[in-house]
Amino acid sequence: MYSVKNLEKEQSIMVQVTVKERQQLIEKASNAKDPLESLQEMFVYTKDDFRVRLKSWRKADIPQKTLKWAIKLAERNVGPFYSTCSLGWQPKIKQADMNKHWARYLVAYTEDTNIPVAYCMFRFDVDYERSVLYCYEAQLEENARRKGLGSHMMKILETAAAHWHMEKLVLTVLKNNPSAMDFFRKIG
Ligand SMILES: CC(C)(COP(=O)(O)OP(=O)(O)OC[C@H]1O[C@@H](n2cnc3c(N)ncnc32)[C@H](O)[C@@H]1OP(=O)(O)O)[C@@H](O)C(=O)NCCC(=O)NCCS
Repeated sequence: MYSVKNLEKEQSIMVQVTVKERQQLIEKASNAKDPLESLQEMFVYTKDDFRVRLKSWRKADIPQKTLKWAIKLAERNVGPFYSTCSLGWQPKIKQADMNKHWARYLVAYTEDTNIPVAYCMFRFDVDYERSVLYCYEAQLEENARRKGLGSHMMKILETAAAHWHMEKLVLTVLKNNPSAMDFFRKIG
């Protein structure tokens, strides 16, 4: 069975919108050159001596080597969870998904060495008749975890969802990934 759980966060700005208005809002957000542009003040994150800078990318602009790193990181981080459920780890499908023309990336780099240590992949879409910012991937290198960076990146996406008048922020996580379930429950 496909064991994915959606964790949804209702936005307080939610108002009744028509189907057409919803579609227009999604198109506007999707067509923005950089939908995170207004959130630049959140693009530095510091905890003690851990300092990162964030950058927003469109699939069309993200460097190929960064994309390759992102795919490999997903494989290292969640590949084993896919392999132990009925989905199995399908690298070609994952690679194709992460190369979709609509994909948006939020990448965190170490401030001193400019090495990527974390990313989220997302898009604006319709999900169960609601406009959503859909976060497909949230992946951190092991040495970047438990420093609040994952929470901070989710906060950026939540703020972006509200900024673009999306009705929900949607995330997917495999139920057999307990630490990610704990994380999403904590921030949910
Ligand atoms: C899940 C993940 C995104 C969390 O990011 P993070 O930056 O490490 O999380 P934070 O430091 O913001 O943690 C916030 C809270 O979530 C909970 N949490 C995070 N990681 C946890 C873990 N491994 N076990 C239990 N609780 C955890 C804790 O309550 C934590 O607060 P605390 O550190 O004060 O106790 C990150 O660990 C990761 O990339 N994991 C591998 C990939 C993955 O599973 N991605 C999710 C599915 S796509």
